[in-house]
Amino acid sequence: MTCVGWGKIILLGEHAVVYGYPALAAALDRGVSIAPVPTPAGGPLRLDIPAWELKVKAGDDHPVANGLAAIADALGVGRPALSLVGDAQIPHSAGLGSSAALAVAIARALLQHVRRPGSNAEIGNAAGASESLLHGRASGIDVALALAGGIGVYRKSTGLRPISARGLRVLVAPSGAPRSTAAMVERIAEATDALPADERLKELGGLTDAGTTALLGGDLPTLGTAMNRAHEILAGLGVSTPQLDSLCEAARATGAHGAKLTGAGGGGAIIAIAPRDRETAILTEWKAAGVSGFVATVGAR
Ligand code: MEV
Repeated sequence: MTCVGWGKIILLGEHAVVYGYPALAAALDRGVSIAPVPTPAGGPLRLDIPAWELKVKAGDDHPVANGLAAIADALGVGRPALSLVGDAQIPHSAGLGSSAALAVAIARALLQHVRRPGSNAEIGNAAGASESLLHGRASGIDVALALAGGIGVYRKSTGLRPISARGLRVLVAPSGAPRSTAAMVERIAEATDALPADERLKELGGLTDAGTTALLGGDLPTLGTAMNRAHEILAGLGVSTPQLDSLCEAARATGAHGAKLTGAGGGGAIIAIAPRDRETAILTEWKAAGVSGFVATVGAR
């Protein structure tokens, strides 16, 4: 049986969530799936994700290999003679939670191999150990979504609270520009003196509340307005790029209710919410800008 970790988008509240504010986020309808294949002749614990041209073994000097070892250690499974062979339906380093999706899929596959069901808390803790190695200060939102799927409001103090908003269509555009979550989190810390009371962080948290209320009421234009303002604040804090700004602008000019960067920024992906009859035109605009976007239906689980 394959073991899955979901990719994610953050509709509102990234970065502020690190400082205790709420974030509205959803698992994508795609992620990373892994099957544990025993290697009875022996050998190291391996990971092979051809879609990312990623092939490592525990003990290699590679960030993902370190993450793999951290997950195995947190689960206490040693180093089984096993190939974790997987597929990825999201790009890596694109702001779509690929590393958390991978970590959750790995943890599930290792537990399946040792025939232990494992609790969500145990899987989340193991995936979190890998995420801390890769990203430094993290709120845990990516792991929570990779694990639970669905859509909800996440807070560091209370975790993910699912909301019922099934079938929301979100346009997603991985920009192709790589980024570092740790570097962007650090940039925000510098811009705000790492003070939760910073007015911009506070406003981002307020936008999450307003956007969540709008989404629950089916008011997508108001959700879009909150997204546009969130992008403006994040850009002011230094985590957007001219390319992300112009992809968002193209979506708005083509009729989107709202568009913003999603995740850490500094590259990575943008998202847009749009009336159904504007989706194709927006994807065409993005294509003309050299970016291949897609429509994800979120909240389906
Ligand atoms: C990354 O997907 C979201 C950030 O808020 C960092 C985090 O919450 O861990 C930028």
